[in-house]
Amino acid sequence: MDAADAGADLARVLFTEDEIHARLAELAAEIARDYAGKDLLLVGVLKGAVLVMSDLMRALPFSAPMDWMAVSSYGSGTKSSGVVRIMKDLDTDIGGKHVLVVEDIVDSGLTLSWIMANLATRLPASLQICALLRKPDAAKVDIDVKYVGFDIPNEFVVGYGLDYAERYRNLRCIGTLDPAVYS
Ligand code: IMP
Repeated sequence: MDAADAGADLARVLFTEDEIHARLAELAAEIARDYAGKDLLLVGVLKGAVLVMSDLMRALPFSAPMDWMAVSSYGSGTKSSGVVRIMKDLDTDIGGKHVLVVEDIVDSGLTLSWIMANLATRLPASLQICALLRKPDAAKVDIDVKYVGFDIPNEFVVGYGLDYAERYRNLRCIGTLDPAVYS
């Protein structure tokens, strides 16, 4: 789905597919440098991170396995509460492994703080985060995102894995929605 296919639903394009790919290639180069010679395990959080994971892992110059978690965060509408339940746990034991959590967006950071605390109890050799997008509110919680694609304003965005009520995940770009879509 392209921006043109979304028509008037899309208010503004923030990042084109090319810009996203270019930034992910830069992040992959940094990650490749930092994890050279180490066994890296990529951990994705369903479903938003699917597209970031798919492009990021292919941009790495070495083989890196992936594993997935699904969580549900209790919240109302577009806000998360930080109360999290694991819907699908990892298939692998991350004990002693170098784990990089791959995320689509860090908004309040509440969901990710919970996930990081949970993963830390499993004693990985290292535990870091790579997020394509980060919103300013994330700065208010104690969450260290080592690899950030883009810092964005406090607006609700869709596309490239990010949804509004499960829609627009397959949009190639990232953009904001027309307020009419929410009403
Ligand atoms: P947080 O706990 O507030 O950091 O939000 C976590 C999750 O909320 C993200 O992984 C997304 O799935 C979702 N989310 C937060 N902001 C947005 C947005 O702007 N668009 C789509 N989903 C979002």
